[in-house]
Amino acid sequence: MKVAFAGKGGVGKTTLAAAVAIELIRRGREVVAVDADPDSNLPSALGVSNGRLPEPISGMKELIAERTGAKGGVFSLNPEVSDIPKRYSVDADGVKLLLLGTIDRGGSGCFCPESAFLKALMSHLLLGLANDVILDMDAGVEHLGRGSARGVDLMAVVIEPGMRSVETAKRVQALAANIGVKDVVAVANRVKDSGETELLRASLGKIELLGFLPHDESIALSDLEGRKLAAGQEFWNAVEQLADAMDARGEQR
Ligand SMILES: Nc1ncnc2c1ncn2[C@@H]1O[C@H](COP(=O)(O)OP(=O)(O)OP(=O)(O)O)[C@@H](O)[C@H]1O
Ligand SMILES: [Mg+2]
Repeated sequence: MKVAFAGKGGVGKTTLAAAVAIELIRRGREVVAVDADPDSNLPSALGVSNGRLPEPISGMKELIAERTGAKGGVFSLNPEVSDIPKRYSVDADGVKLLLLGTIDRGGSGCFCPESAFLKALMSHLLLGLANDVILDMDAGVEHLGRGSARGVDLMAVVIEPGMRSVETAKRVQALAANIGVKDVVAVANRVKDSGETELLRASLGKIELLGFLPHDESIALSDLEGRKLAAGQEFWNAVEQLADAMDARGEQR
């Protein structure tokens, strides 16, 4: 499955992207995790220390120039990228981690070799690879690009108890539908009880609430200490249920 995590700042996108990637590895699946947030922190959630960080793809100027044949403003929109996931990912206990880096990723803003290269890479990851792909994004989903958005089976918009994140979820859903993402659901993080879950469910309107994860102090503590995501059994049970629901959703379509 190809799942993108989006949502308002600080709601838990990175935490849940890492948790689902870890759960899929437990199931024996092959997983590529892509940090598409310029302010990247998926590596630390997956336990990759600063000394082992993958090189951000957008910064590979020479490689990009060579692959796109960029010369005098002319460049290929279809560069070879199939070797990139293997070559430039770092292993995080089985998860192959890629960092996209910090340029406009193929939205309307930049028409340049870097964005063409990243677009081609995203299309390869989402449409060409058989692996599971987990994308950690920021709230703006435009940079997914129309081409690769079709490859996203499911966009999971993370929300937390609070209407602001629900409003963001509604905006993200509209944007995602616009660029051709097939399926958008909400996932509630840091919920305390079923009362909160029901309130969120009601406020989401047509957006289905696919899963909910409890607040867990050890998550915040592992993050504070810069360690790999650590959480208690209740959290991991909820992640397992979420992964089941995501898989079932994929099979339904
Ligand atoms: N279920 C949880 N229980 C306790 N703490 C959590 C939980 N989920 C996330 N956190 C903590 O909340 C903070 C924000 O989480 P995270 O970085 O995953 O959010 P994000 O949406 O990726 O943020 P950003 O928008 O900055 O990328 C982190 O300190 C994280 O450890
Ligand atoms: Mg994040």
